Amino acid sequence: MALLIKNGEIVTAEARYFADIYVEDETITRIGKNLEVPAGSEVIDATDKLIFPGFIDPHVHIYLPFMATFAKDTHATASKAALIGGTTTFIEMCCPSRNDDALAGYKLWKQKAEGTSACDYAFHMAVTKFVAETEAQLREIVADGTTSFKIFLSYKNFFGVEDGELYQTLALAKELGVITTAHCENAELVSRLQAKLLAEGKTGAEWHEPSRPETVEAEGTTRFATFLETTGAEGYVVHLSCKPALDAARRAKMRGVKISVESVLPHFLLDKTLAEQPGVDGMKYIMSPPLRNKRNHDDLWAALSAGTIDTVGTDHCPFDLEQKELGAQKFTEIPNGLPGLEERVQLMWTHGVCTGRVDIPRVVDAMSTKAARLFGLYPRKGLIAAGSDADLVIFDPKWKGTLSVKTQHTNNNYNGFEGWPVEGRASVVTVRGKVQVRDGEFVGDPQRGRFLKRGTR
Ligand code: URP
Ligand code: ZN
Ligand code: ZN
Repeated sequence: MALLIKNGEIVTAEARYFADIYVEDETITRIGKNLEVPAGSEVIDATDKLIFPGFIDPHVHIYLPFMATFAKDTHATASKAALIGGTTTFIEMCCPSRNDDALAGYKLWKQKAEGTSACDYAFHMAVTKFVAETEAQLREIVADGTTSFKIFLSYKNFFGVEDGELYQTLALAKELGVITTAHCENAELVSRLQAKLLAEGKTGAEWHEPSRPETVEAEGTTRFATFLETTGAEGYVVHLSCKPALDAARRAKMRGVKISVESVLPHFLLDKTLAEQPGVDGMKYIMSPPLRNKRNHDDLWAALSAGTIDTVGTDHCPFDLEQKELGAQKFTEIPNGLPGLEERVQLMWTHGVCTGRVDIPRVVDAMSTKAARLFGLYPRKGLIAAGSDADLVIFDPKWKGTLSVKTQHTNNNYNGFEGWPVEGRASVVTVRGKVQVRDGEFVGDPQRGRFLKRGTR
């Protein structure tokens, strides 16, 4: 059915203006003042609402075998949670381990998502080893429309690659016109520090951050930038957490390295004292890079406002309390990750926009448009314009509520932001012209989501 959205204020990364939006089938076909209502159209009144391009989360984990267990969400649960939070597209990390075959892994991840996602999705293909068949497999995966790679410089012997493999991946990425995303921590230093701390009897969650200090992340970021500079490849640092790593990325940007930076809500809002709480309360907050000293927050917000931090994702990775307890005896065995896909937009609105730290167009850019541009989805996604997919978030900035495990849709038994007051909510969300969310409830087609084939540079 055609859709006419009337009386709202359209906000993109470049402009704010009042206009009506007309949608036919899956696409925006007209934008203008006082558009007439063609017979048979559904009309949505967006008076006092802002209309954003559908938000894009460039970094989520849904199917993830990791640390002796599996992340909790399915594509069905995560995609509904995403939509309720205003995210209409996510890019999932496809992460076969070093022991797995990459192409078989890619097919498995695609199969898990196929027909089970309510929102659109794409993948970053993790390169967790570079062996004889890797190049041919990656060419096949890129030809299938998955045009971004993921590299882990951490998680030695599981996802992590050696420098030679990093070089080979980047050289191929450069040739294919593919961007490479990277988790930047020095695996060797992390494993030495973990062993040292455990040998000293320091086994609790509070030792996770000291086992991967800021310097270890700065080294990873610097090394990744150096490899990008040497190969001429384009790169993207995921979930950057602290000023020393930010400085490394900033220096690389200033000397012309093709590097972009993502950070995630926990690194703007939470700090390492949470992981220092006793028992499972601390374990809930174990992620990598770890939550840092609070002094980093102002630098991250300033860098986001200035555009040095290009995008804000979530690194959504839910493990429940029972799974976190797997590391009760050793912090190195606590499954790493925090959920956040559902809360990202509300947290950014409340703590970025309402506090005046970031202006609204920059938020739209960081949470939608820039990700679309970097990952080959623009102008289909990330934009409100005739010809773009009708992925729209009609946002009520006056709504007030509280985050809680009791009301969340993410499949997990805790919320890392439990009890936090939030402002603003996606009141209507469309995916390619179909209303999927109304007033905080999923009302749409659970199989609406499509795999997004993307092009190369
Ligand atoms: O702690 C995290 N970030 N867990 C998910 C895996 C990763 O490193 O992205
Ligand atoms: Zn990571
Ligand atoms: Zn991740």
